[in-house]
Amino acid sequence: MVNPRAPIHIRTYETTCPRADALSDIQEGSLTVRPVFQSPESSFGAEVFGVDWNSPIPEALVAQLISLQDRYGVLIFRETGLDNARHIAFSQQLGEKLEINPFFYGRENDRLGEPRLFDVANIELDGSLVKLDSRRWHHSLGNALWHTDSTYHQTRSKYSILLSHGNPVRGGSWTHFADTRRAYADLSPEKKAQIEDLVVEHDLWHSRKLASPIVYGNPLPHELAAKPPAFHKLVQTAPDGRKTLYIAAHAKQFVGWEFEKSQELIWELIEHCTQPQYVFSMEWVQGGDMVWWDNRQSMHRANPYTESMTARDVRRSTIIDDGPLASGVKV
Ligand code: OGA
Ligand code: MN
Repeated sequence: MVNPRAPIHIRTYETTCPRADALSDIQEGSLTVRPVFQSPESSFGAEVFGVDWNSPIPEALVAQLISLQDRYGVLIFRETGLDNARHIAFSQQLGEKLEINPFFYGRENDRLGEPRLFDVANIELDGSLVKLDSRRWHHSLGNALWHTDSTYHQTRSKYSILLSHGNPVRGGSWTHFADTRRAYADLSPEKKAQIEDLVVEHDLWHSRKLASPIVYGNPLPHELAAKPPAFHKLVQTAPDGRKTLYIAAHAKQFVGWEFEKSQELIWELIEHCTQPQYVFSMEWVQGGDMVWWDNRQSMHRANPYTESMTARDVRRSTIIDDGPLASGVKV
């Protein structure tokens, strides 16, 4: 069934973007697809209606959803009603292995305690909100930088699936997405030639330090040991065969380049990819809303935690890549 309220909960950046509600729905078998950006050359983001989340998802439907994912890069589903177990079960239909939570603050302190889920909420084990200036608060600030999940793993992750539970945050809650395929296509031929062969060192602790220099200026030894850096090509081929940029806040430097010079070009490219014409924002409207994105062809960011924020219960599964570029570059 089509949700008539949906278009007002997608915000495109107004200056140059097509308006989401000007596009018409597309019927794809039993599914209704409502694209966010759609042109003959390029599509990015879609809301998908018609999946029955109450039953296991049949393999033919999984295949249809993957083909939509390859095309749109970000798929949004409303009011799925999924619980942790079914969230994990669907994720396992998309890839053999899920990422395991490193539980930086101790598994015993984790609200979910489920190694296949990441607690992205602002809620502690006892139900209180994450304290301002706690280590966890500062860690979360990195999520508000434009990033791509798990680029700092040598075996990277292809998909992330973020699911909300409970009431929405008072005042609204948004996640923002940028299309790195279209952004790549619009680079000048000179820029494309300059960056074609670059290899990027990605480091989780680099983005934590950018977002919170005081607390994460010197990560703890067990943190550093748990997440060493990884190396991946900058220019890659997306599942639909178009070129894309694999870059974001974890990107620390280019192999063979100095740090400062690397950061200059890295942030030039991130700024390029996150211009309004490549970006849309998804509003979390109700519990059960879910967004599934492809880390190989998009960037995303959260809004930072604020002191006035009410509880925001969002949980993420992350599906490890099994494609040809999964294990990056050996240096
Ligand atoms: C994530 C993430 C964005 C958000 O879970 O990887 O970046 O809005 N979340 O919470
Ligand atoms: Mn993320």
